[in-house]
Amino acid sequence: MTSMSLSGEIIDEFNKAFKKARVSGEPEPTAMVLATSDGSGNVSSRTVLLKALDEDGFVFFTNINSCKGQQLTACPRASATFLWKASGVQVQLAGPVRRVSEEAADAYFATRDRGSQIGAWASRQSEPLDSRETLMRRVEELEQQYEGAEVPRPPFWTGFVLSPETVEFWTQREFRLHDRFLYTLENGSWSRLRLNP
Ligand SMILES: Cc1cc2nc3c(=O)[nH]c(=O)nc-3n(C[C@H](O)[C@H](O)[C@H](O)COP(=O)(O)O)c2cc1C
Repeated sequence: MTSMSLSGEIIDEFNKAFKKARVSGEPEPTAMVLATSDGSGNVSSRTVLLKALDEDGFVFFTNINSCKGQQLTACPRASATFLWKASGVQVQLAGPVRRVSEEAADAYFATRDRGSQIGAWASRQSEPLDSRETLMRRVEELEQQYEGAEVPRPPFWTGFVLSPETVEFWTQREFRLHDRFLYTLENGSWSRLRLNP
């Protein structure tokens, strides 16, 4: 474990809350709202899906040239929020972000269904698109190009790992007297604080 590692306690707590969300009927428990910035005060956010979690942090995949990709290159820090309405839980994280290894990105890309692999190549994510037909034409061309062959990972598509320095678990309670527990990483060790709701 490096000093940036998530503690086992936090991973356990996250996994426990995640399972509770799923059994409570949360339709998309891996969805998190990811906030990024360009470093000059311009902030943006969007939903991405959590694809892995370990001591290094929370992994998601995207297009490097997208708005978020460009912001993460300019300012490699982010925050992410999970809302699990069905079980009354919110989890927030914030910290530095880096790209996953090329091998890890290749390995995950290979598990995606073919349509999504082609889609990753076809979409110039976040750039203007003159019509849906243009996009579908690109898809057709790519299908021909890769017919009978494996679709390689586009060089502009990869995973990022958010290694949190703060993680907050919020649990809904009666009369808006919710529970909030904030974990903070300082000098390589995690501390836990209860916050006012
Ligand atoms: C439920 C849901 C899951 C999504 N998952 C991803 C994802 O894992 N990766 C991704 O690049 N975009 C995902 N998107 C699309 C993003 O929200 C966003 O539209 C896209 O990444 C472009 O964002 P940007 O222009 O801010 O970079 C998802 C959208 C929704 C609604």
